[in-house]
Amino acid sequence: MANPKRILFTGGSGKAGRHVVPYLRDRGHRVVNVDLVPLDEPGVDNLTADITESGEMFNVMTSYANFDELEPGTGVPAFDAVVHFAAIPRILIKPDNETFRVNTIGTYNVIEAAVKLGIRKIVFASSETTYGICFADGEVDPRSLPLEEDYDVDPMDSYGLSKVLNEVTARAFQRRSGYDIYGLRIGNVIEPHEYVRFPDFFENPAQRRRNAFCYIDARDLGQIVHRCLEKDGLGFEIFNAGNDTNSVNIPTRQILERFFPGVPVTRQMGEHEALFSNRKIRELLGFVEEHDWRNYVSE
Ligand SMILES: NC(=O)c1ccc[n+]([C@@H]2O[C@H](COP(=O)([O-])OP(=O)(O)OC[C@H]3O[C@@H](n4cnc5c(N)ncnc54)[C@H](O)[C@@H]3O)[C@@H](O)[C@H]2O)c1
Repeated sequence: MANPKRILFTGGSGKAGRHVVPYLRDRGHRVVNVDLVPLDEPGVDNLTADITESGEMFNVMTSYANFDELEPGTGVPAFDAVVHFAAIPRILIKPDNETFRVNTIGTYNVIEAAVKLGIRKIVFASSETTYGICFADGEVDPRSLPLEEDYDVDPMDSYGLSKVLNEVTARAFQRRSGYDIYGLRIGNVIEPHEYVRFPDFFENPAQRRRNAFCYIDARDLGQIVHRCLEKDGLGFEIFNAGNDTNSVNIPTRQILERFFPGVPVTRQMGEHEALFSNRKIRELLGFVEEHDWRNYVSE
């Protein structure tokens, strides 16, 4: 591999991380997973630490990855990048204030430590829920479709709010440092074994409305993170992380008519083009989808 990196990855033991971490390892990177619980994955190092403890974040970012790094006798190597996924991943797991606390303080601690230690590339997990539909009280219309990154995000729940604040935190640290800090508004993550759910999505498409019909294959998310690590010099950027098409088998035009009547559509869309637009990652990062649901589910 041309440019192997030493990467500190928070939350790598979770649903998304356990696919993204091996994707990065398989491309030659050395990954240290920082989580409350270790990830049992060959070639991946683990440090157990809590993102809400600032001292622990400064400490793990100045740590050996494993015993082999003692051997050269040249001290602790520096990290090239931090990928920050650790979080309470939705409402209704913890009390709302705890979700807010862990996600906002945790992200502040991770980004602050990385920037103050001179780690010049940070990729962090934001969420589709910032668009304010997913965890809204009642059925909410977006102000326009497709959902693109310049939308004025306005969630009403503690989780979506924590992710909006994390984007603002990241932007502040980017302004101060000039480093590259990229936020991924991750769509509904689908692991390989979850494609069995899709026939039910086709039967009852209304269940996908709160996700604006989006999905992101966990391995395609690996590609997106990898491309963020490869692409330098963008400064602060927010990217939707979703697949090319919607998670149902009806054309986009019909989804709009059935589920979003009256919502302004701001541009021409492809026959099945995702309403949670991934145009920016395709155009700026060169993302090329590998895991269309049609590879795994018959229509
Ligand atoms: N799963 C989705 O569909 C989805 C969608 C949008 C955004 N996201 C975001 O992507 C990221 C990963 O989501 P996921 O689905 O893998 O969640 P997950 O809950 O499966 O994984 C999160 C990981 O973070 C760890 N963690 C939690 N609190 C921690 C703490 N205080 N210190 C250290 N580690 C801690 C957990 O142990 C877990 O391994 C999260 O930031 C989530 O908000 C997920």
